[in-house]
Amino acid sequence: MPVLEPVPLPEYDGVTYISLRAFREKGPEQTIKDVKDFQSRETDIIICTYLKAGVHWLDEIITMLVNKTKTLASGTKGQRTLEGIPELSVLDSLPSPRILNTHLSFKYIPTKHVQNKGKIVHMIRNPKDICVSLYHHAKKDVVMNYDVPWEKYFENWMSGKVFYSSWYDYELGMEEASIQYPRMIYTCYYEDFKREPKNQIRKLADFLDINVSDQLLENITEETSFENMQSKKTDNTKFVNMKEAEGFIYRKGDIGDWKNHFTVNQNSRFDTQFKDRMKDSKYNITFE
Ligand code: A3P
Repeated sequence: MPVLEPVPLPEYDGVTYISLRAFREKGPEQTIKDVKDFQSRETDIIICTYLKAGVHWLDEIITMLVNKTKTLASGTKGQRTLEGIPELSVLDSLPSPRILNTHLSFKYIPTKHVQNKGKIVHMIRNPKDICVSLYHHAKKDVVMNYDVPWEKYFENWMSGKVFYSSWYDYELGMEEASIQYPRMIYTCYYEDFKREPKNQIRKLADFLDINVSDQLLENITEETSFENMQSKKTDNTKFVNMKEAEGFIYRKGDIGDWKNHFTVNQNSRFDTQFKDRMKDSKYNITFE
């Protein structure tokens, strides 16, 4: 896979996207249209997450559950990111159930998947940690091309000017969809997976209708620990970024790194905005 050069970021309908290959080759409008028109199979599982909420982790867990394997898979989730693939027909050759993923808002999820009532797994993570995680990622990744000081980045986050939609628009859209399609969308929390991975993986397996032995649950829990994935997995960032030969997805994998970045004033402004935007939400988000 050739490394990518920095290019201006794609924009569509007032939203800035990241310059994944499909966006580069087809432009944002066609890329999003192709995702919406994607011929989903009834058995497809789509992982829906905002940026930095844990898609690599979840993809690995689901891959191991579906295949009942004891070790990490060799591929990367980027090979199955719907809005990243210029020619979606490459996914035709994958066996069912396919494990796909997207950061696009729910309104752009393949229409056929929604008609099929296909499974969606949605992982949510506290937005302060997402904000920090994205800050570090955006500095390094050629598809984001966004190396700005923390203070400027923070202001952009506060005004919703990051990538894809704002965190609030994305998550409130997912919540609305979950109310409309309760059996189709499984929402889980990054922090719960950190605190009690085995129990959370078991619940996820139930949602996916997968019978899993206690031993396999143990294996999956151990294999997908942050430390293990950090040492064993390569990620897509390795292939497209010339300077970052090792990839940089597996950074810290902690809860609460925001405390090392937010000033007291930034924290208080964030809390005020969070309270206001999330006042009608039933999500159980905590900041530790
Ligand atoms: P940090 O930058 O806070 O370390 P995504 O996969 O959605 O891009 O999210 C990446 C974030 O998930 C990174 O957060 C990364 O370290 C964390 N992560 C990746 N694998 C993980 C794992 N197995 N356990 C916990 N966190 C993980």
